[in-house]
Amino acid sequence: MSAPVLAIAGLGVEIARQEAAPIAITRDVDLELHAGRTLALVGESGCGKSITALAVMNLLVAPLRVAAGSIDLKEQNIAALPPGSAALRAIRGRRIGMIFQDPMTALDPVYPVGEQIAEGLRLHLNLSRRAALARAVELLHLVGIPDAAERARTYPFQLSGGMRQRVMIAIAIACEPEVLIADEPTTALDVTVQAQILDLLRDLSTRMGMATLLITHDLGVVAENADEVAVMYRGRVVEQARVDALFAAPAHPYTRGLLASLPPVAGKRERLQPIPGQVPPAGADDQGCGFSDRCAFAMPVCRAGVPSLLAVGEGHRVACRLHDTNA
Ligand SMILES: Nc1ncnc2c1ncn2[C@@H]1O[C@H](COP(=O)(O)OP(=O)(O)OP(=O)(O)O)[C@@H](O)[C@H]1O
Ligand SMILES: [Mg+2]
Repeated sequence: MSAPVLAIAGLGVEIARQEAAPIAITRDVDLELHAGRTLALVGESGCGKSITALAVMNLLVAPLRVAAGSIDLKEQNIAALPPGSAALRAIRGRRIGMIFQDPMTALDPVYPVGEQIAEGLRLHLNLSRRAALARAVELLHLVGIPDAAERARTYPFQLSGGMRQRVMIAIAIACEPEVLIADEPTTALDVTVQAQILDLLRDLSTRMGMATLLITHDLGVVAENADEVAVMYRGRVVEQARVDALFAAPAHPYTRGLLASLPPVAGKRERLQPIPGQVPPAGADDQGCGFSDRCAFAMPVCRAGVPSLLAVGEGHRVACRLHDTNA
C-alpha cells in the first residue's frame, strides 16, 4: 500500500494535574490514514475517540496535552507545531477538514451559510469574495442541497438538521483537504438522514481521494462506510482490521461484545447482549489488559501486563492474550 497521508504513532494524551501524576487518556495509539480510504474508529463512550481527533487537529486545551507520540501529515509532525502558530492555521481547514457532531454549535448563527463556506476559501485559497461565494454555491450543490444559490443566503436556523450537516460537510471539504475527520457526524440525525449523510461522505472521500477518519460508537455504521476499522477501549486500540475481516472473524472479546450488542437484523428475533460491567473511569488501575475485568475469558496472565497488538491475519491485529501463542 502507498505511504499513509496521516500517520499517528504512539500517541498518548494525558490530563496534567498539579501535585499529582497525570492521568492517561489515550496510550500507544497507532493509526494510518490512506488516500481515498476510510478508517473507522469505534468504541464505547469515553474511550478516547474525540480526544484522538482533537489531538490530530492540535486543538487540545489544558489540562489535556499530548504526552507521547507523533502525528505526521505526510512528512510534517503536526503534534510538534505550537498551538496558534501560522503553520498550524495553514493546515487546519486547508489540509485537514473536520466535521463535528453538532452542526448547530459549529455553525455561526449570525451569518448566511454561503458566507461561512466562503470564509475558508478566502482565507486559505485567497479567493475574492465573489469567487468564494460562487464556489460556495457549487459546494452546496455538491453536498446535495437543492436550490443552492438561494440556500447560500439562508441562516443555519432556517435549515433542517440534515441540511445543516451538509453545510458542515461543504465547509470541511471546501479547500479539498487531504485528510477529513468526521467525529460522530450523524448522531444528531434521524436514521434515514443518517444514511444519506454517510453515503455522501463516503462518496466524497472516494471521489476526492481524501484520507478519512470516521469516528463512531456504532459498529453498524462501520460495515457500509469504512474500509478499515480500529476498535478502541479505554484509550488503547485493541483490534484493527479490514472491515470485512473484522466482521467475519472478530478476535478481541470486546469487539465480539460490540458486535453482539448490535441491534438485530430486521426479521430476526435475536436478543441484544450488552457487554457486562462498565467502562472504568480514566486513570483507573491499568496493570494488565484494560478489558480483563469485564472479559468472560480473562486468565491470570491478562492482569499481569498490557498485551501488545499482534497479527492474527493480513492487516488484522489484536491485543489479546487469547491470540498470543507465546503467552
Ligand atoms: N477536558 C477534559 N478534562 C478531563 N477529562 C476529559 C476532558 N475531555 C475528555 N476527558 C476524558 O477523556 C476520556 C475520553 O474522552 P473522549 O471525549 O475522547 O471520548 P469519546 O470516545 O469521544 O466518547 P463519546 O463516544 O462519548 O464521544 C473520557 O474519560 C473523558 O471523561
Ligand atoms: Mg466523542
